[in-house]
Amino acid sequence: MEVVILGGSKQIGRLAADAIEDLVRRKPDAVLGLATGSSPLPVYDELALRHGAGLDFSRASAFALDEYVGLPAGHPESYREVIRREFTNRVNIDPGKVHAPDGAAADIPAACAAYEEAIRGAGGIDLQLLGVGTDGHIGFNEPGSSFASRTRIKSLIEQTRRDNARFFKSLAEVPHHVLTQGLGTIMEARHVILLATGAQKAQAVREFVEGPVAAICPASVLQFHPHATVLLDEAAASALRLADFYRHTYDHKPAWQGL
Ligand code: F6R
Repeated sequence: MEVVILGGSKQIGRLAADAIEDLVRRKPDAVLGLATGSSPLPVYDELALRHGAGLDFSRASAFALDEYVGLPAGHPESYREVIRREFTNRVNIDPGKVHAPDGAAADIPAACAAYEEAIRGAGGIDLQLLGVGTDGHIGFNEPGSSFASRTRIKSLIEQTRRDNARFFKSLAEVPHHVLTQGLGTIMEARHVILLATGAQKAQAVREFVEGPVAAICPASVLQFHPHATVLLDEAAASALRLADFYRHTYDHKPAWQGL
């Protein structure tokens, strides 16, 4: 796991966008894994700018990490809509190649199996963007999630519903259920970039980067990922024991290594 501590979310957005730009130039039909929430927004802003300057997404495809269950189609806070609004509508990715789990499906297990099949059919995810919950979740794999899990329905912990209430008119409107790529699904992405900013993430970051690998902290499974990059601002990095070592390592990294 590579930990990079940066000055703020603008720098984080630029570095993650560098990795995506590099991928899309190397592999124009790249498969991107997209997160919602606040953390990836600077990356999407940066990619929209770069698209304006010529970066081409016409052959790329994308898979959202997760989706709420029970929001009506087109609800502005459904993750399909958020991904469309914040990213895919702002670049030239084919809307037919942007996928999200179907949170309105009558047959949820079949919809989850179909999502896994669609990811496999696209050749797997090349680069997965992730945020981390204050409870250590990635996707909506809450504490206790199996490290082998695949896309499925999950219940949200109250802390996550409260954290996400800012996107809704009231806490009561935040759904209790979600569909999410499993930890096993996320672990198959070829490169994972997790972004975290702000002091409210410091404890979760410390636990998943430096704590034991344990289901109580789902993001800790990334310690087993062969290519996981963690981009943090100073506040999110403030509880790390080895922060100075991560800074030193990144500052002295050979340029050819990239992210
Ligand atoms: C979103 C997702 C979640 C968020 C996490 C952090 O698709 O899967 O795991 O990444 O809850 O959310 P923010 O970035 O809003 O703090």
